[in-house]
Amino acid sequence: MRISGTEIDFEVGKNQTVLEAALAQGFEFPHDCTVGTCGSCRSKLLSGKVDAITPFGYTLSREELTAGYILSCQAVPQSDIEIAVDLEAAASHAETVSGRIVETRDLTHDIKLVSWEVERSVSYKAGQYMNVRWPGGPGPRSYSFSTEPGEGGRTRLSTFIRKVPGGAFTEALFKGELDDAAFEIEAPHGHFWLHDGDGPILLVGGGSGLSPLMSLLEDAVSRSVQRDAILLFGGREERDLYYLDEIAEIGRRWKGKFEFWPVLSQTEAPGRRFGMVTAEIPAAIAELGGVDGLQAYMCGPPVMIDAGVAALTSQGVPIDDIHYDKFTDASTGGN
Ligand SMILES: Cc1cc2nc3c(=O)[nH]c(=O)nc-3n(C[C@H](O)[C@H](O)[C@H](O)COP(=O)(O)OP(=O)(O)OC[C@H]3O[C@@H](n4cnc5c(N)ncnc54)[C@H](O)[C@@H]3O)c2cc1C
Ligand code: FES
Repeated sequence: MRISGTEIDFEVGKNQTVLEAALAQGFEFPHDCTVGTCGSCRSKLLSGKVDAITPFGYTLSREELTAGYILSCQAVPQSDIEIAVDLEAAASHAETVSGRIVETRDLTHDIKLVSWEVERSVSYKAGQYMNVRWPGGPGPRSYSFSTEPGEGGRTRLSTFIRKVPGGAFTEALFKGELDDAAFEIEAPHGHFWLHDGDGPILLVGGGSGLSPLMSLLEDAVSRSVQRDAILLFGGREERDLYYLDEIAEIGRRWKGKFEFWPVLSQTEAPGRRFGMVTAEIPAAIAELGGVDGLQAYMCGPPVMIDAGVAALTSQGVPIDDIHYDKFTDASTGGN
């Protein structure tokens, strides 16, 4: 196996995945879940053939598959291969801290703002997430930070959490059963952050997917980023919209044009667009002056991300300028 643009090449054992082989060689290869759900190990297959242990299509979009992307934690080489991957981005500084919940606040009928106070400060990039483990829980759950990182990191870690019916963690959380629990939090994780550029920014969120988008927007405001931006946010009905004051405040402080487009899919309401949030992508791109230099940032349920990637690529946005975190759970093939 060769890693393009580097001097790195090495043998991969029989039935070993690309990720296992790279880690065994001592390389910091990007990864998190190792079970094919988070997308962190995404890399591009430039030549050769791999078999997938679990289909890449659970996590990668059709457009990414067509462009040659694979999930390295699920890819077993069947020939010599060459891949492209950003090893720089892999350098993980994740550490584990313990903490307790200090605030839960209803944002909507099924989304809460949840904050943990942890023993020492955690540094992260706006858009990244943490893995949360609780006593007796079946395994860690991932939650994206909702605030800007601040200088020197934070001891108060906040996120927006949607209640998933039948979900092991969120059901217990929403019943208040974890208020006194001692948590282990591992962070930072992920590769979702604002990339350098001068072009416009299109942000698309649904449900608790607003969490990392708020972090990213707050951080961009603090850094006086001067790029035009539209935030598209999708809900079913009016009661699914939240953080409207905070979004308005971002708009007031934003350098350049900033528009917030709330989209409702089930009920029409004044001042709200109607339909699927991803159906508004072409209009938003036109409002931002076209795809030239445009970068897209999306967070939320897997179906929304898949529809978003399809809409963006059909408008001519290159796949490499589309960044997202898919909020997968146990029902979407992993965890
Ligand atoms: C990178 C990333 C960032 C994320 N950020 C956020 C965030 O900021 N906010 C947020 O709200 N969520 C986020 N998520 C999703 C979150 O991590 C959890 O998956 C979600 O909260 C569900 O956890 P749970 O324990 O309540 O549900 P789970 O126990 O995982 O269950 C989820 C659903 O699957 C069903 N189920 C359980 N086991 C199976 C099985 N074996 N087969 C089929 N179905 C099953 C359950 O009944 C339930 O309906 C993120 C996910 C990722 C990958
Ligand atoms: S590490 Fe491969 S998809 Fe999560």
